[in-house]
Amino acid sequence: MKTSSHPHIRLLLALAAGLIANVLVGANSAPRERLLMDFDWRFHLGNDWGIAQNLAKSGTGMGPASVAFCDASWRRVDLPHDWAIELPFDAKADTSHGFRAVGGGFQENSIGWYRRTFELSATDSGRRLWLEFDGAFRDCTVFVNGWFVGHHESGYSGVRYDITDVANCGGKNVVAVRVDASQFEGWFYEGAGIYRHVWLVKTAPLAIAPDGVFVFSRFKDNIPEGPAEIHLETRLANAQNEAADATVTWEIAGSDGKMLATTSQTGRIAAAAAGEVEQTTKIAAPELWSPETPKLYRLVTTVASGGQIVDRIETEFGVRTVAFDANRGFLLNGKPYLLKGTCNHQDHAGVGAALPDRLQYFRIAKLKEMGGNAYRTSHNSPTPELLEACDRLGMLVMDENRLLGSDALHLKWFEEQIRRDRNHPSVAIWSLANEEFTTQGTPDGGRVAATMQTLAKRLDPTRPVTYNAPVGNEFPGINSVIEVRGWSYHIGVDNMDAYHTAHPQQPNVGSEQGSTVGTRGIYTDDKERGYVSAYDDHGQSWSNTAEEWVGFFDSRPWLSGGFVWTGFDYRGEPTPYGWPCINSHFGILDTCGFPKDNYWYYQSWWMAKPVLHLLPHWNWSGKEGQEIDVRALSNCEEVEVFLNGRSFGRQTLKRTETLKWKVPYAPGTLSAKGFKAGQLVAETKVETTGAPVAVQLAPDRATIEANGEDVSVITVAVADAQGHVVPVADNAVSFELEGAGRIIGVGNGDPSCHEPDVFIATVPLRTVPVGGWRWKKLADTYAKNLPETGASLDDSGWEKADVTVESGPLGVHEQGVFRTRFTVSAQDLAAPAVELYFGKIEGDGKVFVNGQQVGSAGDPRAASSYDVKSFLHPGENTIAVTVANYGAAAGVNKGVCLRMPEAPLPVAWKRSVFNGLAQIIVQASKEGGPLKLTARSTGLQPATISLEAKPAPARPALP
Ligand code: GAL
Repeated sequence: MKTSSHPHIRLLLALAAGLIANVLVGANSAPRERLLMDFDWRFHLGNDWGIAQNLAKSGTGMGPASVAFCDASWRRVDLPHDWAIELPFDAKADTSHGFRAVGGGFQENSIGWYRRTFELSATDSGRRLWLEFDGAFRDCTVFVNGWFVGHHESGYSGVRYDITDVANCGGKNVVAVRVDASQFEGWFYEGAGIYRHVWLVKTAPLAIAPDGVFVFSRFKDNIPEGPAEIHLETRLANAQNEAADATVTWEIAGSDGKMLATTSQTGRIAAAAAGEVEQTTKIAAPELWSPETPKLYRLVTTVASGGQIVDRIETEFGVRTVAFDANRGFLLNGKPYLLKGTCNHQDHAGVGAALPDRLQYFRIAKLKEMGGNAYRTSHNSPTPELLEACDRLGMLVMDENRLLGSDALHLKWFEEQIRRDRNHPSVAIWSLANEEFTTQGTPDGGRVAATMQTLAKRLDPTRPVTYNAPVGNEFPGINSVIEVRGWSYHIGVDNMDAYHTAHPQQPNVGSEQGSTVGTRGIYTDDKERGYVSAYDDHGQSWSNTAEEWVGFFDSRPWLSGGFVWTGFDYRGEPTPYGWPCINSHFGILDTCGFPKDNYWYYQSWWMAKPVLHLLPHWNWSGKEGQEIDVRALSNCEEVEVFLNGRSFGRQTLKRTETLKWKVPYAPGTLSAKGFKAGQLVAETKVETTGAPVAVQLAPDRATIEANGEDVSVITVAVADAQGHVVPVADNAVSFELEGAGRIIGVGNGDPSCHEPDVFIATVPLRTVPVGGWRWKKLADTYAKNLPETGASLDDSGWEKADVTVESGPLGVHEQGVFRTRFTVSAQDLAAPAVELYFGKIEGDGKVFVNGQQVGSAGDPRAASSYDVKSFLHPGENTIAVTVANYGAAAGVNKGVCLRMPEAPLPVAWKRSVFNGLAQIIVQASKEGGPLKLTARSTGLQPATISLEAKPAPARPALP
């Protein structure tokens, strides 16, 4: 589901307002606000505040969880953010997570804190306020204004907190999030941190419940002929103390904005309860959604109550039918439709798990260029914007749940996933789980799966359910209850054919197939360096080459097609190697999205256009006269190969197979011609290149939107004098960017490259020690209006205090006060923030600046820091700290200083090309304007390109 403020929808809304009888549009014509909360967070890596989660009393989060805490010295980050890609590689780290120094063995790198300060207007009082996290890896503890608001254990399901009661409307609010990535969930790179969007949602007290809109179409017999019956369901949440009547009006507009249907229904929602309001309508001649024709409709759901419009949500949806047939396979819009799918993790070069939305579109477009039409979100609930990209670009989705489980928590997460995703026309099937080896064949495994499947069917009557089962002809357990039998590998007559014969009523899908390995541009295995040849020769013991599985499936339409493991390479699972290899080799495309040779194999069998591709490259200096294994990937009937014009023979291609020649190497041009019915339909060539002479830069989009989110994905190539990419080049390239944006990541697809993906700017802190302390004992530091904490007091007769010591000077049961005077300059106060930093306040402490309390302390193991800029003035200022001792000793210790952040230091971005190519991702600023990217490499001509960050309406965001 996606909300937006598209112009034609605004028009539609104006019309809608007029259509609702007896309803006055309220003064607040946008009762719901959904504000992106991605920008301007502060981040700190490390477990420095052990007892910040003070749960003894409410509203008393300590350290970063308190409002008074100063995060000025923390790094500024925008979301989505993945701190794992910022960490070094370490051979002792987890292989399957790509050897990043994160997880259980690296506790110091596995806890991160995020903080965001924001204002709420006094007019927000009376509204429901929600804080929504689309996903963070992994355990999150969230505080708002010092209140604990929740803990969430899943790295993949989203979570939302109602923060209405603890919000400060008319003032400052602080969200603090402690993210703990020390436990993994999967066996693949998972990132660390808040790697999806965060939102602040404001609604009226009576409003559409979270993910409360459901729209689906039905046709007679599930065959899309004639009008579509549109089922509309809206769940309303009433946070008021009285029951309320609500009229829901649903309006449907076509992709051209034209209104097609309007209907409404009134319901009564009990006090402090939620309830559904339902209706049906028709679209007379619907345009059907498919990957080839991704036609979308827009539903505007408006809720009126008490003469006011109280809520309004826009939802994109599509009209289409899906089904699986035991003999005909997958059916889209009533017709057999071969699934040409890939499984993918959310992980991309340069950015790790934290994909800007645009990269989702970039990746889906790459899969479509290959002929792909389906995507499996292995092995977890996807990022919402991935589904949006699939809806809009046209890609079917197998929407997979993380873990098999029918306990309350796992069912809750699965339910939330279905409610969130069920309006997406791209989503064609739910997958309960992946390869649950231990439980899948057991009666309990079967019962758990059945419970989950029943839940899916109750929440979504339109979609089938599967499970990725890594077994052959075996029925007990999950396979005996699951609607669509999913096949994880296990091709072969004894497995698939035998199973199909034994269970002829059960539909099937190749939910995970392939798992062949190869490295882009590499044609010999090299265990030392961690490279595998890209000739499709490397199915694993449990899996198959592309040619094997495609060949087997080709004559068995009842298998519905399949999902290749994987579309893109990902970090971790460096099968068949280990260290120093850090990436998988399974992808048809590498981590940047550069195609490996198998890309053309799939294109040949997944697309109708003639395809002809030759491998390997033709730079084999030193191998003159030696036979090279030449292969053609094609869907032509015949292919003829030539070297420097001399034919090496024409061969006939059997469907789904690959053609091979032995060609003695001589530099020059290796070329091929492809024929269908004797006619030349395709030609290709591979040329021996010269030495590298120049760097090239090619953006996927030269104009991007100046919204702080959009990215241009730029290919970096090293070319010879003719401009041909040198397929063996490994030159180091450095980058400079000027103008309205920043570089957010670099990559090159090399599965063994340990160069950084990101370069983090250090923010220097100007530190001014605060000395001159004096102290005295007090009978009761808790007494009100202590003169000792006031702005002015003559403390010159007090004893001097050395606040740099480790502990003391207060003894058991003693209480005391510490004071100093210090001078602050106008220059100090010009800093973006002024932090008052105590190495340690031992005991129960309160900190006063110029007589005003700025915060309390209570964690004897951690530093305390307070944001004091607004309490200071140029000239002399006073600090007073009262401390009560309940331990062995107490006092102000380990040094006190003021810290003022300065401008970040510049960073030098660089990355080597791998087999001629690298990738750099540039993100637009919100300001917009020209961008200039220059790439340099020693001894090569540099390249410069101009990009433009064009002013664009940014989506509503928290200022
Ligand atoms: C499968 C598994 C995937 C991946 C793949 C590698 O068994 O589902 O997550 O590990 O093997 O071949």
